[in-house]
Amino acid sequence: DKERQYRVLVADSMSEAGLAPLLQAPDVIVDQRSIQETDDLAQYDALLIRSGTTVTEEVLLKMPNVKIIARAGVGVDNVDVQAATKHGVVVINAPDGNTISTAEHTFAMMCSLLRNIPQANASLKDGKWERKLYQGAELNKKKLGIIGFGRIGTQLARRAKAFDMQVVVYDPFLTVERAEKLGIQKADLHDVLRQSDIITVHTPLTKETKGLLNMETIPLTKKGVYLINCARGGIIDEKALYHFLENGHVAGAALDVFTEEPVTDQALIEHANVVATPHIAASTKEAQLNVASQVAEEVLAFLQGEPARNS
Ligand code: MLT
Repeated sequence: DKERQYRVLVADSMSEAGLAPLLQAPDVIVDQRSIQETDDLAQYDALLIRSGTTVTEEVLLKMPNVKIIARAGVGVDNVDVQAATKHGVVVINAPDGNTISTAEHTFAMMCSLLRNIPQANASLKDGKWERKLYQGAELNKKKLGIIGFGRIGTQLARRAKAFDMQVVVYDPFLTVERAEKLGIQKADLHDVLRQSDIITVHTPLTKETKGLLNMETIPLTKKGVYLINCARGGIIDEKALYHFLENGHVAGAALDVFTEEPVTDQALIEHANVVATPHIAASTKEAQLNVASQVAEEVLAFLQGEPARNS
């Protein structure tokens, strides 16, 4: 039906340039407004979101005409995918648009953590000159444990190798051949925990990965280990992390994501050995343009009758 106008709701802020395919399509009307600020949700054929909007079954019931939900990013943990499937709604994401940004942010967090850059910066701005206090450690020859070896884990490993780190990976899908080709070591979870100087998680948040690092597993790590989470809040249990930061088993932690966002665990982020950022690993010009244009193009094609690719 050529006359048909499609209505698309963009409920989280997204790159305008990335949305161009939808904004310029003659048969599409785009509204950019949060779900809470929208009275008539029933008029929309498609919903575009980032991590700020939670799509529950209740939201889905208010959108009986929505056919596709697109996450401009990777994680779809803020969408009740089961309920969407039940109501015949396709859920897509932008699986690779922010890979490099997230790997680079993780690397920046690792450098910050080992060299105390945020703490030293704050101290200097506070009028102090504390050179002894902020002695750090080199990345060179350190063993980096990567849990989850998808796109982001893989890019991080390449960067770590360039810094002469040893890389040990836990991922059930990684083959020994591929590990050898990349010059990294494949290991089971227990060995990654036991051997690594720095451990970083790059898995989605699922039943299996929730609390993967917890009161039982953190003690299996080396004393003085550094932990990094730029994936999803809750993969490292926050209470357990705080406990082992306090008793010194964990030397430091770098966190970009939290169990509750905006973060509520102030004691954790204020800990002297914690470096924290407000879920900005994918917040670069490049990544935001990539993810928005990936989903905009796919939503447009879907509305015009093509099958979804990244569902
Ligand atoms: C993602 O899943 O892609 C990230 O958390 C990034 C984001 O929320 O923008």
